[in-house]
Amino acid sequence: MADTDALKQAVGLEAAGLVEDGMVLGLGTGSTVAHFLLALSERLARGELNSILGVPTSIRTEQESRKLGIPLTSLSEHPTLDLTVDGADEVDPNLNLIKGLGGALLREKMVAQASSRLAIMVDESKVVAALCEKAPVPIEVVKFGWETHEHFLQSLGGDSVLRRLPDGEPVTSDNGNHIIDCYFPGGIDDPEVLEGALAARTGVVESGLFIGMATQVIVAASEGVRHLYAGREQL
Ligand code: A5P
Repeated sequence: MADTDALKQAVGLEAAGLVEDGMVLGLGTGSTVAHFLLALSERLARGELNSILGVPTSIRTEQESRKLGIPLTSLSEHPTLDLTVDGADEVDPNLNLIKGLGGALLREKMVAQASSRLAIMVDESKVVAALCEKAPVPIEVVKFGWETHEHFLQSLGGDSVLRRLPDGEPVTSDNGNHIIDCYFPGGIDDPEVLEGALAARTGVVESGLFIGMATQVIVAASEGVRHLYAGREQL
């Protein structure tokens, strides 16, 4: 097992320990979440948890959860959730996030918004001084006229590229939209201002900037796992 995968497994196991009887959970998307789902299903199989329900943030997570026997519900049936557990692509010192390299940012953000708590699982390579140090900001846009956003993103200091499949076809999200990946060389000075500018742009459905949403980040490092809490501790 690669080191990074071992760290993702460790943090997935740790996050499964946050789940309590009766919770309605948001289930994030990605390879770290896959470890969390497995650990959660193992707790269910051992009889350690009762009456939990999960709201999946993607078709992928829905399929993975069904295979593992995790009981599912929807945001329509449960518009308020106790806890969402998800991965992220970058975490800054204020626990702001970049999410969406897995393409599920819109549903992830809606489910996180509906949750009392958002616990994020990362390995230490994703902890950065400023967002966009390594990862681009994924931006979900309607397909119509997506090209018009290129100059707009340039005006914000970004270099954008339409996300494509290996065969060159543009990626279509679970919601039928395209995804633009936008790089901000040198990092983002003010993620909140950038998020506001993106949110105000017609044709942009959502960005992968999660500002002030994470209540807790679990970081897996080679020395062990540590917990960080919004407003209480610096990375
Ligand atoms: C999915 O859309 C993303 O937000 C993921 O949560 C993020 O990309 C982390 O993915 P991994 O756990 O696969 O690194």
